[in-house]
Amino acid sequence: MPERDAAELLRDAKRVVVFTGAGMSAESGVPTFRDALTGLWARFDPRTLATPAAFAADPALVWGWYEWRRAEVQRVHPNAGHRAVATIESHIPDTVVITQNVDDLHERAGSSPVHHLHGTLAHPYCSGCGEPYTFPPEIPEEPEEGRRVAPPSCAECAAPVRPGVVWFGESLPEGQWGIAERAAQDCDVFLCVGTSSVVYPAASLIEHAAARGAVTIQVNPNSTSWDDRVSFDFRAPAGVVLPALRGCLAGP
Ligand code: APR
Repeated sequence: MPERDAAELLRDAKRVVVFTGAGMSAESGVPTFRDALTGLWARFDPRTLATPAAFAADPALVWGWYEWRRAEVQRVHPNAGHRAVATIESHIPDTVVITQNVDDLHERAGSSPVHHLHGTLAHPYCSGCGEPYTFPPEIPEEPEEGRRVAPPSCAECAAPVRPGVVWFGESLPEGQWGIAERAAQDCDVFLCVGTSSVVYPAASLIEHAAARGAVTIQVNPNSTSWDDRVSFDFRAPAGVVLPALRGCLAGP
């Protein structure tokens, strides 16, 4: 049974990378980035909102979109897949969790540390001087779909605060990227979950792992360009496959 074979390799691994994308949070109710958005936001292509140029042209439109996403993430909960990742981590201490997601669902499921290659919704900062901005503690009232929300002004320099995410055309956080590259190059097993593997440089991590001879495991209900290149291709949701793999970890 492929799940048992994969779980055995996982169980014997010394160093594991779990690399996740938007599909990891889909079963929690967070729409994947490339899914059509609902309501008024359906008119916008996320790829055109998630850019420095979009924020410069219309900061309230972009901030409002991220506030809508932040409210949405606060409403949902980690799913069985997130919890399985945390359990894998507790079985195999040298597990490195790397995500492209800007939500905090891995952390809320118990994973620590989580390396966010594309930043997080939780840590905005000043677009002018880089000063971090702290959100007020109360949970934001969910902006009506499509509402523009003017970004706060920086307390130091009065420039608009921007979302703490990495936009198209921006560099990844150096420290996080360095950890991710090293982990991908050194791992025995690379688990690639819920990502279309099309956005670089993040998508190059599986290439590094495969080139070094790691066992590669893909979990995705849909086809990707890696289907024929991974050691195991599980064509099913993360919330089904990861608990099954975790369940096999305990032994025969
Ligand atoms: N379980 C596993 N995978 C799933 C599930 C699920 N339940 N549901 C959907 N998927 C898969 C989809 O088939 C798709 O291949 O998740 C993938 C999501 O792909 P994208 O929306 O492209 O997300 P991602 O790969 O994370 O995008 C990378 O691109 O848009 C930028 O910065 C953004 O971090 C994002 C990056």
